[in-house]
Amino acid sequence: MCGIVGYVGSKSAVDFLLEGLYRLEYRGYDSAGLAVQQDHQIAIRKKTGRVGQLADLCERQPVTGTFGIGHTRWATHGEPSDINSHPHVGGNGEVVLVHNGVIENYSILRNQLRELGYVFRTGTDTEVVAHLVAHHLFEEIKLGANPGEIKTCLRAVESALKRVKGTYGLAMLFRDVPGLLIAARLGSPLVVGIGRGEHYLSSDAGPLVGRTEEVVYLSDHEIAVITPHELQIIHRDAGTQTPSVRTLEQTTSDLDLGDFDHYMLKEIYEQPQTVENALRGRLDEDEASAKFGGLNMQPQELRRVDRIILTACGTSWHAALVGEYLIEEFARIPVEVEYASELRYRNPPLTDRTMIFAITQSGETADTLAALRECKRKGHPTLAICNVVGSTIAREADGGIYLHAGPEIGVASTKAFTSQVTVLTLLALFLGRMRNLSYPAGKRIIGHLRAMPEKLRQTLGCHAAVKDIAQKYYQAENFLYLGRLYNFPVALEGALKLKEISYIHAEGYPAAEMKHGPIALVDEDTPSVFVVPRSNIYPKVVSNMEEIKARRGPIIAIACEGDDKIADLADDVIYVPDVDEYLQPLVTAIPLQLLAYEIALLRGCNVDRPRNLAKSVTVE
Ligand code: M6R
Repeated sequence: MCGIVGYVGSKSAVDFLLEGLYRLEYRGYDSAGLAVQQDHQIAIRKKTGRVGQLADLCERQPVTGTFGIGHTRWATHGEPSDINSHPHVGGNGEVVLVHNGVIENYSILRNQLRELGYVFRTGTDTEVVAHLVAHHLFEEIKLGANPGEIKTCLRAVESALKRVKGTYGLAMLFRDVPGLLIAARLGSPLVVGIGRGEHYLSSDAGPLVGRTEEVVYLSDHEIAVITPHELQIIHRDAGTQTPSVRTLEQTTSDLDLGDFDHYMLKEIYEQPQTVENALRGRLDEDEASAKFGGLNMQPQELRRVDRIILTACGTSWHAALVGEYLIEEFARIPVEVEYASELRYRNPPLTDRTMIFAITQSGETADTLAALRECKRKGHPTLAICNVVGSTIAREADGGIYLHAGPEIGVASTKAFTSQVTVLTLLALFLGRMRNLSYPAGKRIIGHLRAMPEKLRQTLGCHAAVKDIAQKYYQAENFLYLGRLYNFPVALEGALKLKEISYIHAEGYPAAEMKHGPIALVDEDTPSVFVVPRSNIYPKVVSNMEEIKARRGPIIAIACEGDDKIADLADDVIYVPDVDEYLQPLVTAIPLQLLAYEIALLRGCNVDRPRNLAKSVTVE
């Protein structure tokens, strides 16, 4: 939530700031703003709405300078408005800053600062930090410090942050020290890009791609003092740190739309490739198992595990549900799936044989990170299934498995889901082969997994049929999504996709549960999407369909190719390739992603930037 960029160097700051903000826009798009410094002047431009509107404003009212900060906002405190847009000004303009996170004690601090004469102009929590830093700057100056020195600004920031409770990624400029950018992190990610005679700052690596390959990820309680030629990192408790420089592996083509109209569609179409990436190098034919490079656990330790907790949010939580079924079936290890937002505050009885897996595309979701930390604090092995390399969760977990799906930019998660399910299948196979899954069974699973990229390619062939179906139903105001066993999480995911991008009310249920309440919603205007590929309980799902039909509810069925019978019952059928039951979520998710996409388009919605949402939920 909220994206931050910063630049100090010799090039035009505004070029990088705008380009970076476009790339970070998926993190929030309520407003955008930037501040550019030239000598002792800091010019601010900010505007409600998208980065494009800020770019227009900068064209009408140009700013020049080679030092700057920028922000794209997902509003937490204070409505989206020009005045509440970042950057915010502290004191009489001595400090200008942008913030990602939530200042929990802002109200107390604001009252204290008001009593000291500070005037608040916005409804944000962030303005408190701006005034607080300015206040401590004045205190330093009163004690004789030179306002034009870096160390004065640093001390002011350190003193201010000691008084702040909450989370922050902060980037700030100081009027009296041109070329100084101070960044601070607690809970909200920040990465510094190293150039020649220049430094970049960003909430994630996206804006740095194509600018530099050398990056330094900040950790919590670290402050970065950044000038064009120097980078100093100071940890609150451990003092000055040697920056740990990493290499960026993304390329600009990962961020291009190519021939697609939207990132969501591009990412749906990438799935044959991203599933292949998730499998690459991980199928162990000799052992009829899977192999992973980064679990960082000995086989003996893994063999001791007698319970697994999978924790996640949103779509990743749905993937975790598929993981539960897979691991319990293949490895016979009891699995629980916990919403990270619940797990972080619950105190479930865990033993020293309990292993925790956090599942997250971004690796930055605040609740997932907090749940992981809580379990880690208790001494449990904590692992992550994560897409973004170098993200906070990837760095803090004891070990883990990357998805290698490339950047997911559409706010609605698509390719991350299928990659997560693929990795969870590999994990189930791996844990199963350590226990009672036989060699031939392992071989069979490997064979099926190898075939999946091609099956997904075939699945995408349903797009034309989905388009027609969308045309028929896009005006409906309620949808039910129903599936059983491996397809129950897919039903949940299909409903989530539809509601988040088309704003249609949709509910996902295990198909048989529908009789226990949701069936009351069924009428001729409420379509039910049944995920009903061939399975052991196929006839049971068909009975559930009959129950809907008897109440005149329209039915859209996702069924296996060759299942002609289903068309007698369903009003519309989308066919997908026939695969083993445990792999069905990979193929059945795709038509549901496409259905949500097509319906959202027909309703005139912005599929890549749905209202009220942001890609990484980095606040609680
Ligand atoms: O980055 P994460 O996987 O941790 O994100 C979790 C959820 O915020 C995310 O899946 C969200 O539900 C998506 N908008 C779903 O499309």
